[in-house]
Amino acid sequence: MSGTYGAVQLQRFADTFREGARIVDLDLRQPRPGELLVRNMYAGVNGIFDTQIARNAVDYVSIALPTLTGVEALGQVEAVGDGVSGFAPGDAVVTTRFPGGYRQWNIAPADYFVKVPDTAPEWLALASTGVSAAMALQHIGAVQDGETVAVSAAAGGLGHLIVQLAVARKCHVVAVCGGEKKKAFVQSLGAHRVIDYRTESVPKVLAAEYPDKLDVAIDTVSGEIFDAFLDNVAPHGRVVVGGAAADLEGRPEIVTQPRIAHKLYYKGASVRGFMNGLLTKYWPSAREQVFAMYKDGTLKVTFDEQSFVGLDAVYDAVERLISGQSMGKVIVDLRTAQS
Ligand SMILES: NC(=O)c1ccc[n+]([C@@H]2O[C@H](COP(=O)([O-])OP(=O)(O)OC[C@H]3O[C@@H](n4cnc5c(N)ncnc54)[C@H](OP(=O)(O)O)[C@@H]3O)[C@@H](O)[C@H]2O)c1
Repeated sequence: MSGTYGAVQLQRFADTFREGARIVDLDLRQPRPGELLVRNMYAGVNGIFDTQIARNAVDYVSIALPTLTGVEALGQVEAVGDGVSGFAPGDAVVTTRFPGGYRQWNIAPADYFVKVPDTAPEWLALASTGVSAAMALQHIGAVQDGETVAVSAAAGGLGHLIVQLAVARKCHVVAVCGGEKKKAFVQSLGAHRVIDYRTESVPKVLAAEYPDKLDVAIDTVSGEIFDAFLDNVAPHGRVVVGGAAADLEGRPEIVTQPRIAHKLYYKGASVRGFMNGLLTKYWPSAREQVFAMYKDGTLKVTFDEQSFVGLDAVYDAVERLISGQSMGKVIVDLRTAQS
């Protein structure tokens, strides 16, 4: 195996991912001992993170430029380096390791990959976003059957899986999303109360219908939604912070309001950060769980209706995700124009 392959490299900080990134050619080589050579077929898109790193707005990861980009991808093993066991050419594998995503091929240590049943893109969504959803709801949110669970960006890649996992635990699900189409989608997943923040005020609805009732509230948007989740957290409730899509600049809104200490202590409530990358030891069991739920039909994966084909479609896919229009998981099909 020789020649070159394309990969998206962030070369400079810029306002948009498209402006800061270029497709570069990398050498295609045989795997060294301990490595796999994998032909990527689908990449998962994390447009919020991509935009935040392009804007140098992610202060929890230090990014040195230039850097290859993209996190998760599903592909097929082409060659196996000496000393690697458990993988063979033809195996379908997923990586969830940055920067394994936005590239046509990946050559990396074998332990960066996990085997999945076949090359259907659902396994990619489950092994990455599905595991995140389970970690946020179960591990950090410590959900109990029948609790009331709120989730923001509920029609998104992460959100639509959290909704279903919570429904499967017989929870009462309060979902927040923007737009009628998203509302209908989230209702179809079994959410009990869907708040379209474009037509209803999240603080008002929660104060009227769920005062002190949210046992678990998972927020990835921030702003008013975070505040409303916190204001209505139940005694012993857990507000889980998994992102801040409203803050793509790395400049959190400055607000003046009472410290949140009082909102927490008298209810015995907590605010918990969720960062999937810090939970790697729990991934195998979460993966097993979401794969089993997918196989038995409890968990369905929805992909955004817009398709993105080829490595240079990554830019459009990132923009689609940050447009707020996408529903379900956004992926790029890399199966064309392989080196
Ligand atoms: N902490 C972790 O380990 C972890 C892991 C995975 C994902 N995440 C985070 O979880 C969130 C969801 O990720 P995803 O990839 O599944 O994305 P997504 O939910 O499919 O797409 C993002 C959604 O966020 C909402 N949103 C609200 N304000 C926005 C803004 N200013 N700009 C863009 N979108 C905005 C939009 O939905 P509505 O308009 O319907 O609200 C949009 O559709 C992201 O914030 C991501 O960074 C965190």
